Amino acid sequence: MSESTLPWTELYRPTSLKEVVGNRDAIKGFNEWLNTWFRKMPEKRGALLIGPPGVGKTATTLAMAKDAGLEIVEFNASDKRNKAVIEDQVMQAATQETLGGELRLILLDEVDGLSGTGDRGGIGAILKVLSITLHPIVMTANDPDNPKIKDLFKVSRVFRFSTIQEKDMLNVLRRIIESQQVHVDDVVLEYIVENARGDLRAAISDLEAHIKGGMTSVVPEFASRDVRRGIENAIRRLLMANNARTAKMVISEVDIDHEKLLLWLEENIHLHLELPRELEDAYDALSNADFLIGKISINQDWRLLSYVYDFLSAGIATSRKTTSFKKVRYTEPTWPLLVWQGNRRRTKRMSLIKRLAMTTGVSKKRIQRTHLKLIDVLIKRTPKIRVQISEWLGVKKAIIDGRG
Ligand SMILES: Nc1ncnc2c1ncn2[C@@H]1O[C@H](COP(=O)(O)OP(=O)(O)OP(=O)(O)O)[C@@H](O)[C@H]1O
Ligand SMILES: [Mg+2]
Repeated sequence: MSESTLPWTELYRPTSLKEVVGNRDAIKGFNEWLNTWFRKMPEKRGALLIGPPGVGKTATTLAMAKDAGLEIVEFNASDKRNKAVIEDQVMQAATQETLGGELRLILLDEVDGLSGTGDRGGIGAILKVLSITLHPIVMTANDPDNPKIKDLFKVSRVFRFSTIQEKDMLNVLRRIIESQQVHVDDVVLEYIVENARGDLRAAISDLEAHIKGGMTSVVPEFASRDVRRGIENAIRRLLMANNARTAKMVISEVDIDHEKLLLWLEENIHLHLELPRELEDAYDALSNADFLIGKISINQDWRLLSYVYDFLSAGIATSRKTTSFKKVRYTEPTWPLLVWQGNRRRTKRMSLIKRLAMTTGVSKKRIQRTHLKLIDVLIKRTPKIRVQISEWLGVKKAIIDGRG
């Protein structure tokens, strides 16, 4: 396996259009627009690529510029791109001739991400640049309905990108596997691809996690319908039980691995517990079980396993004290949870989710979907905010740092 510190989404970035998969019509039109520039200045000097994340908007642009031998000037979202920067740096890149008189391609990545009060100012500045640029300007955005980019529609050629088909994603993953010289089962690949829902970046990242995790640390849930039904029944009966003895019996009767059980419980327990207090008890039981599983895997002390099962059975069942039992629809643990398997970060993440759920009164699932992402964004922007967040939630800073 080759060693590289680059994430695979960078390492295996297409270096030529030939390596880009999917969105053929959009890419064809986009390429024609760019080629026009070599003959005459097209009527619309900007191209706006719109589509969901991870489908190749940026990758296509870079590959196309490379194929055409164009110099690229890239302004990505991490640059401070306020009105002044656009009026100054982008404008300069757009209006200055290159030494040899060649074209350069200017990429304004994620124009819907222009932030701050200068939003409109930012777009306004782009409009000005577009009206006088000497060089092709490519912009990318995710959301076609974002009002911020509405004004760009009129003055740009708009190319819509959509999600990548599974067979195209498979081809890219197979190419990567070949270059890594490893073997990955087809069933794993298909799982990854299905789970990525058309986002090739996500698929490549999951493949990387799987391979770097030693192939065993991430064992996707290929629960056949029967197995799945078995697990769901066990959880349902476990949560129906209102005493430790019944709970232990239920769990001893099912043939399910303790790590798998923990993941399923972690994913679904909030459906049965409405009170913060109940949730807290349940997540404590899960944390304890997780902690012991970690110990077992380090010391091979399998005597601890019976305690793991105690936490997962009695611990969980007795956490439901007030909320009445109801039938719910369970979801299969999601891929990222499995990625954390064998990695103690999960314990920290769980404490964080638990705290957030308690503090905000929002379901754990929602927290996973929205709040964690938001916290990531906030921390990326203002690292110092970690302190405030940890104080707000009453957790150690290390827990915030280990959020996953
Ligand atoms: N169509 C594709 N063909 C080949 N590789 C792709 C394709 N789409 C994405 N990738 C891979 O995924 C990575 C991320 O894709 P890219 O940055 O182009 O996504 P994007 O559409 O610009 O997403 P975002 O909206 O989040 O910026 C690329 O570096 C590349 O490795
Ligand atoms: Mg992009």
